[in-house]
Amino acid sequence: MDNKDTYLLNFKDYNFESSLVDADFIENLDDFEIRDDDVFIITYPKSGTIWTQQILSLIYFEGHRNRTEDLATLDRVPFLEYNIRKMDFLNRPSPRLFCSHLPYYLVPKGLKNKKAKIIYVYRNPKDVMTSYFHFSNLVVTLEAGNDMEHFMKRFLDGNETVWPDHRRTAMVYPFKVDVVLNNFSYPQFFQDLRSSVLKISRFLEKELSEEDVEAIVKQATFQNMKSDPKANYDEILKHEIGKRTDEGHFLRKGTVGDWKHHFTVEQNERFDKIFEKNMKNLPLKFIWDL
Ligand code: A3P
Repeated sequence: MDNKDTYLLNFKDYNFESSLVDADFIENLDDFEIRDDDVFIITYPKSGTIWTQQILSLIYFEGHRNRTEDLATLDRVPFLEYNIRKMDFLNRPSPRLFCSHLPYYLVPKGLKNKKAKIIYVYRNPKDVMTSYFHFSNLVVTLEAGNDMEHFMKRFLDGNETVWPDHRRTAMVYPFKVDVVLNNFSYPQFFQDLRSSVLKISRFLEKELSEEDVEAIVKQATFQNMKSDPKANYDEILKHEIGKRTDEGHFLRKGTVGDWKHHFTVEQNERFDKIFEKNMKNLPLKFIWDL
């Protein structure tokens, strides 16, 4: 069985996934037509997807920037594989904005052939895992993370989870492929949101006025997104996905280096060994703490 089969089987077997994901759609994604002016955010989960969705929404939609249109970010930049709102992607006007967590072998051929504009956002895997750990304990649709030790084993061996193969390969996603045209990192956003917005808009060839940039930066901050129901998934988690507890939010902490508050020394060493083995030679600069 190849990677693709394992992945699909996992989707089909797992109730949660089958409720949010149309496995047949994914199975046939190869031929999903990609347009030259499509824009894709590609991320491993918990790497800053929602942040980039918000930035793209603000860049592309004046009504989002000046708050005259009441549309959630997720409706402006939907997930390709989690089509929760059952959108008609084929008839969506251009430029279509999408995001996806799909592993490389499942993305449409057109993406592999470098159609579309692709923004890959990455984050250091220790913060990714910490964020994912909390998220797994928050939503009913993921297997509970339980304690960090339990979750770390699952995360690092990649065998027990909803996205088993993806989890194992995702950290190296961009490097196995030449599809990624542009890399952005969570700490870059964190350290200098304004430059990141400008970098993204230049890449997308979108002209923005000074006021536009100001408005985007202001509305893409953690605090602003956390208090903006259109930007933070609070409603979606509550009503469409389901939370285990009222405590906890999708926008949780929003920092670089939070893993230090959750890893023991031994866990950190174990993680480093796996990282060394799998990711040492990657041409990306991971920022572990600021
Ligand atoms: P934490 O759980 O560490 O807080 P994704 O959208 O890929 O699932 O990523 C979610 C992570 O990005 C969460 O990390 C969330 O808080 C963080 N995030 C989202 N918007 C952010 C923002 N404007 N500033 C800082 N972090 C943000």
